[in-house]
Amino acid sequence: MINVLFVCLGNICRSPMAEAIFRDRVESAKLTDQIQIDSAGTGSWHLNHPPHQGTQKILKQKGIGCEGMVSRLVTAADLQDYHYVICMDDRNVNDVKTFGTIGEGTFLGKLSDFITDATWSEVPDPYYTGDFDETYELVSEGCASLLTHIREKHGL
Ligand code: 4NP
Repeated sequence: MINVLFVCLGNICRSPMAEAIFRDRVESAKLTDQIQIDSAGTGSWHLNHPPHQGTQKILKQKGIGCEGMVSRLVTAADLQDYHYVICMDDRNVNDVKTFGTIGEGTFLGKLSDFITDATWSEVPDPYYTGDFDETYELVSEGCASLLTHIREKHGL
């Protein structure tokens, strides 16, 4: 089992969007038994909250479900247990490190790391930009590349 944790600041806009999109792709690829997915945040303002209305709306538009998802904080155990800790921006990468030690088998990086010709290096935060469509497009592109990478690397 390969496990993937998406991380952002509030765990209500970007990382739940990534979790839902990635899960949808993993389901389409019939890999649910082999890839486990979750998301978490580094800030505690919105603990136990469902995804932001804007994230819910764009996911619904695209036919992707996010029922039952609620926000939580990153834990020290996550950093040991997860194979991939995929952050949305540089601040997330730095903040995550304050929650514990990164495990030897854990890749810590950003979604943009998986796109070779990326024209972006951070996923803009729609909590501030208000542009959930832009964020969706980048997260969707990143998730496709991440899944390709994981399938190639782990022979799935
Ligand atoms: P996210 O966006 O990190 O993509 O979930 C944010 C959500 C809430 C806050 C900041 C960013 N906040 O400050 O409450």
